Amino acid sequence: MKLGRLNHVGVATPTLDRAIAFWRETMGAEVIREPFDLPAQGVRVCFVDTPNGQVELLEPLGEDSPIAGFLAKNPLGGQHHLCFEVPEIHAAKAWFEGQGCRVLGEPRIGAHGTPIFFVHPKDMGGVLTEIMETPRDH
Ligand code: CO
Repeated sequence: MKLGRLNHVGVATPTLDRAIAFWRETMGAEVIREPFDLPAQGVRVCFVDTPNGQVELLEPLGEDSPIAGFLAKNPLGGQHHLCFEVPEIHAAKAWFEGQGCRVLGEPRIGAHGTPIFFVHPKDMGGVLTEIMETPRDH
């Protein structure tokens, strides 16, 4: 597998508005994208641009959101996942499965409009890892 760039760091938050204010006022972020719902993943998402990547703020969308469980253990929110780009999503899935890593579900369209999947943290040194096909316009 060819490991691509670190695309974003996923950060869970109980309140997206407050997290956006924190990134703007305390962290000095100048480019904060428009938040949007991603119902297929049970999250509301907001991307914060940094000079070399993005932070993906994640708020639960409904009580069965995967983020809701994370926030139950981490009420203030916190670092949720890392996302790396790969050239081809199905080849990457086959690669991780071949390494004995548990891929969580089938590839699906992620927050950037390209296919993604997650790999179980217990097979990834404790880090929930999102694998994302590189957008074509990069
Ligand atoms: Co992500």
